[in-house]
Amino acid sequence: MSESISKLKQDFEAELASLVLTSKEDVDAIRVKYLGKKGLVTDLLKQMGGLSAEERPAYGKKVNELKEFVSEAIEKALLVAADAALQKKLASGFVDISLPENGISAGSTHPLYDVREEIIDFFAHMGFEVDFGRDIETDWYNFEALNTPPDHPSRDMQDTFYLADKVMLRTHTSGTQIHYMETHKPPFRMIAPGHVFRVDSDATHAPMFQQCEGLVVDENITFAQLKGVLQVFMDKLFGSGVKTRFRPSFFPFTEPSAEMDVSCVFCKGEGCRRCKGTGWMEIGGCGSVDPNVFINCGIDPERYTGFAFGFGLDRIAMLRHAIPEIGLLTGNDERFLSQF
Ligand code: DAH
Repeated sequence: MSESISKLKQDFEAELASLVLTSKEDVDAIRVKYLGKKGLVTDLLKQMGGLSAEERPAYGKKVNELKEFVSEAIEKALLVAADAALQKKLASGFVDISLPENGISAGSTHPLYDVREEIIDFFAHMGFEVDFGRDIETDWYNFEALNTPPDHPSRDMQDTFYLADKVMLRTHTSGTQIHYMETHKPPFRMIAPGHVFRVDSDATHAPMFQQCEGLVVDENITFAQLKGVLQVFMDKLFGSGVKTRFRPSFFPFTEPSAEMDVSCVFCKGEGCRRCKGTGWMEIGGCGSVDPNVFINCGIDPERYTGFAFGFGLDRIAMLRHAIPEIGLLTGNDERFLSQF
């Protein structure tokens, strides 16, 4: 018995040595011949059944050693074959290293990213803290604490992506104000840039877009200061000389509330197709913080006043670069993106 084991080992070694190890297929064929289901080593293992109980352990040990030896040798042979194949391929190919490279282009930052960075930079210089907030909000933070009544249309299923009862993807960044006021004592100034989500989709509305909220709270904060800050901000974004105007409006969380327009960046206020002949473009909402919001956050409205504002980053990027469709900003089309 033990002779046939050593004989098989010799045969295997001779056979493997006779191969020019360039092909994985050749090595595979040997593997099947020795280790396959009907292979020679497998056969030896099967013969164990016919042996006496005394003979079995020594025989089994020997065959298993052979099996291990064959497996290892085959693993090595496969590596040699793979290397030989690679060398052959390299030798047959020719790489002309003097050929010019085919235009590796440098990437550029995304226009939305640029707007966001510029806004953060501007407000950070004015002493505002940045709080990115969270994408998922509860009814309290997104609506209730912001003084939004239960029957307000923005709470509708048609406008809000609900994840569970009273849990939703935030519809605006205003909720970050509430988190901030709950955890900080006035005076403070903060901005909250971030993604927001609404059930909305056309050329100028997308189900996801970016906003930036701002909030300033201290004693004696006035609407005039709000106007001043936003004017300087618009100068920065669109160049000095851009005019602003504030139209009375309504938001549940500010009183009084206003919508801010800038003079049309395309016609400089003359009136054109893009501003529908008005000379103005809407940029965002703002106002003095409603006392109810302060009360909801444990801040004394008799002592403190504040202003808040919110605007869309996508809208600013679109105005700056005359981008006709909001979808282009998130479409990842290289032809569009390479222009920036
Ligand atoms: N949250 C408002 C929106 O999404 C924007 C806004 C308006 C924010 C007025 C404010 C504000 O802070 O005072 O349309």
